[in-house]
Amino acid sequence: MKFLVTGGAGFIGSNYMHYVVNKYPEDYFVCLDALTYAGNYNNIKDLEGKENYKFVKGDITDREFIDKLFNEEKFDVVINFAAESHVDNSIKNPGIFLTTNIIGTQVLMDASLKYNIKRYHQVSTDEVYGDLPLDKPDLKFTEDTPIHTSSPYSSSKAGADLLVGAYHRTFGLPTTISRCSNNYGPYQFPEKLIPVVISKALKNENIPVYGKGANVRDWIHVIDHNIGVDLIVRNGKVGEVYNLGGHSERNNLEVVKTILKLMGKSEDLITFVEDRKGHDLRYAIDSTKVEKELNWNRTYTFEKGIEETVNWYLNNTEWIDNILSGEYKNAYQKK
Ligand SMILES: NC(=O)c1ccc[n+]([C@@H]2O[C@H](COP(=O)([O-])OP(=O)(O)OC[C@H]3O[C@@H](n4cnc5c(N)ncnc54)[C@H](O)[C@@H]3O)[C@@H](O)[C@H]2O)c1
Repeated sequence: MKFLVTGGAGFIGSNYMHYVVNKYPEDYFVCLDALTYAGNYNNIKDLEGKENYKFVKGDITDREFIDKLFNEEKFDVVINFAAESHVDNSIKNPGIFLTTNIIGTQVLMDASLKYNIKRYHQVSTDEVYGDLPLDKPDLKFTEDTPIHTSSPYSSSKAGADLLVGAYHRTFGLPTTISRCSNNYGPYQFPEKLIPVVISKALKNENIPVYGKGANVRDWIHVIDHNIGVDLIVRNGKVGEVYNLGGHSERNNLEVVKTILKLMGKSEDLITFVEDRKGHDLRYAIDSTKVEKELNWNRTYTFEKGIEETVNWYLNNTEWIDNILSGEYKNAYQKK
């Protein structure tokens, strides 16, 4: 089968590329990425030369380009990881989030319909469900939890999800959606909490923590997310939504302290800063459906995953420095 994977130079997409290109030599994977500031060609450079893989630079919102690509490549499956993904950026500049996350999804689905794609998979987020109170630990998001968003980011992802549902019901597009909780692991751009903490701690710089650090996230290792996406794409029921979560609720302060301890750094580096506007309090995922239907289970505990992740960043300081200096932007041209 021939797969189009969009956003494959980003954090989760690049981990996905490594997973599937190595696992399925009989399939062919085209990685499409616009290489925005968040896309880093260094993340997938080592896949160059693999026989079942190629990289294409391009924008999912460019209708003419996407049509031509689908016409030439005759994909069987489309997996859409491409997105603007940083909540803080969506508060400063919502417009690009609507364009990439909603219009980009529409462009991909129009081409998927026209070229009779067998499966369109949308990579979504638990943030479409809004947030949960801190004092009701038994409450978790299920696939039936109403969409109730807080940020322009989550609203744009929810808009895309609704459109995916509409393309399935109205036009019969064979779709699936996965909604996952907060990911961590290798290749995460140092704008998100965990790589920010590691890169700042490495330089003994102050580590900004929003509010009192009380916001709770359900942390999942990126590999477990990607194993779930792969299972859903191959075996999930058309038209369905599947939640994926790490069974690892931790508040931000706990996460920061865990990392500092693993790095042997002082908690004095923690600096509390003004809270994010509209900051969601707590996310928690009920992933019973994917566990029962597709036999998915996390393979990482938070303790094992965070230690491995911290070690990855400590062993790849050049990867971080390359981003902080802006040098990573030349990785594709230098190919
Ligand atoms: N990071 C998380 O914790 C998390 C959790 C749940 C779901 N998700 C979803 O997973 C997906 C990937 O997230 P991520 O954290 O890897 O994001 P990321 O920001 O690291 O990567 C996004 C990738 O998309 C590419 N891209 C952006 N606009 C594009 C366009 N117009 N055309 C083609 N490519 C474009 C970027 O260059 C980048 O490589 C997103 O859809 C996100 O909403 C993320």
